[in-house]
Amino acid sequence: MCGSGNPCWGCGRCAPSPMLLLSLLLFAAPFGLLGEETRQVSLEVIPGWLGPPQNLLHIRAVGTNSTLHYVWSSMGPPAVLLVATNTPNSFLSVNWSRLLSPEPDEGLMVLPKDSIQFSSALVFTRLFEFDSTNMSDVAAEVPGKLYPPYSLAEFYWNNITDSLDTATLSATFQGHPMHDPTKAFANGSLAFRVQAFSRSGRPVQPPRLLHTADTCQLEVALVGVSPQGNRSLFGLEVATLSQSPDCPSMQEQHSIDDEYAPAVFQLDQLLWGSLPSGFVQWRPVAFSQKQGSRESALPCQISSLHPPLAYHLPQSPIVRAFFGSQTNFCAFNLTFGASTGPGYWDQHYLSWSMLLGIGFPPMDTLSPLVLGIMAVALGTPGLMLLGGGLILLLRHKQYSEYQRIN
Ligand SMILES: *[C@@H]1O[C@H](CO)[C@@H](O)[C@H](O)[C@H]1NC(C)=O
Ligand SMILES: *[C@@H]1O[C@H](CO)[C@@H](O)[C@H](O)[C@H]1NC(C)=O
Ligand SMILES: *[C@@H]1O[C@H](CO)[C@@H](O)[C@H](O)[C@H]1NC(C)=O
Ligand SMILES: *[C@@H]1O[C@H](CO)[C@@H](O)[C@H](O)[C@H]1NC(C)=O
Ligand SMILES: *[C@@H]1O[C@H](CO)[C@@H](O)[C@H](O)[C@H]1NC(C)=O
Ligand SMILES: *[C@@H]1O[C@H](CO)[C@@H](O)[C@H](O)[C@H]1NC(C)=O
Ligand SMILES: *[C@@H]1O[C@H](CO)[C@@H](O)[C@H](O)[C@H]1NC(C)=O
Repeated sequence: MCGSGNPCWGCGRCAPSPMLLLSLLLFAAPFGLLGEETRQVSLEVIPGWLGPPQNLLHIRAVGTNSTLHYVWSSMGPPAVLLVATNTPNSFLSVNWSRLLSPEPDEGLMVLPKDSIQFSSALVFTRLFEFDSTNMSDVAAEVPGKLYPPYSLAEFYWNNITDSLDTATLSATFQGHPMHDPTKAFANGSLAFRVQAFSRSGRPVQPPRLLHTADTCQLEVALVGVSPQGNRSLFGLEVATLSQSPDCPSMQEQHSIDDEYAPAVFQLDQLLWGSLPSGFVQWRPVAFSQKQGSRESALPCQISSLHPPLAYHLPQSPIVRAFFGSQTNFCAFNLTFGASTGPGYWDQHYLSWSMLLGIGFPPMDTLSPLVLGIMAVALGTPGLMLLGGGLILLLRHKQYSEYQRIN
């Protein structure tokens, strides 16, 4: 979707058009104040079954009239269920013996069923590594020669209980391949850090996506993994449910404000339906250093969203348990970095964040800094006119008073 019929080079690195500037000036300012809706958020690791670790994390966000459930699991490939209900009393019900069976249908439910307003899922299926050594063509379809992909369904994941932090409402799934013949993951890991929020705000780390109490954030980080080539690019395959024959839609939004995400003027969105609906949003930028900055920013390319052809997606037990076997999937690829510029090879570090949520996606409005700059820039001629008028008025007044006294 990047570059198609769009004058920008790469992803999100284009300057905004004057028309866009104008429309933002006209329409963005009145929405500068955001609603401050809060939710009672709890994170719970659902105690499992004796046997190998089965991570099941339930995020429950209770509002006045609704409850949002985010269920994360690393059973099979890492996956998340998003469920919105119209009651503050809905709850998650898990039948482990059914969930772990070959036919897990109804092994995991949100009850009461008729309170469910929206449900969908994301599944993270594969990690790709490409050799970009000979890829001088930035606009190439393929980022380079593909090394054997890592199937995320065949990873060992840590016990999530150890990373659960109820103060920051976060937890981290950290994993490495079960079979690692090249020992690439000997000193490294792939991590999925999940964070929920009880009110709106912005994290400290770029790209500083604006979040609300209706969303949760996922940060994917690849750290310390030995690349197989000198200039390896990494990619992630993501699958999602499609309720209709069509895949969910992808959207690009542009903004003139890059205060929070340096030099990135674009926000990508996946929408499951017409709004309000479920959504995923991200800035098309990844970082090659822990302290994300302009210098360590990598472009992030996204492929089109389509049904996976000639390839069986690994099954996620929680998705099968909740939605049954009659489900259609669509998938897309994210690729991080380009063969030139900074890359994973610098520090063996790569991170990328996205926000998923239900309702209306948070919209970036102009930041206070930019509004301030605009007020000064636009205001100077106005102030000069106003100042000039006042001086004339005062002088006139002085004259008239002088004359009256005289
Ligand atoms: C995970 O760790 C917690 C506490 O350390 C422990 O109680 C639990 O049994 C562990 N879970 C598994 C599946 O090993
Ligand atoms: C909750 O529901 C009540 C009654 O249906 C309604 O009056 C109120 O506006 C709702 N509150 C919110 C925050 O949606
Ligand atoms: C859980 O599932 C099993 C197997 O389908 C069933 O026999 C059992 O009754 C269920 N347990 C509960 C509490 O529903
Ligand atoms: C890159 O190109 C050079 C010269 O065309 C070739 O010798 C080399 O094998 C190529 N390397 C890879 C990894 O394809
Ligand atoms: C992993 O780290 C150890 C100690 O720092 C080092 O000796 C070893 O060579 C590293 N292994 C790989 C595959 O990088
Ligand atoms: C990586 O770079 C080194 C030094 O520049 C070179 O000797 C080696 O052949 C390169 N490896 C690959 C796989 O291109
Ligand atoms: C993702 O990229 C890999 C490697 O290029 C390809 O085999 C796969 O079909 C792609 N998946 C999707 C959903 O486009």
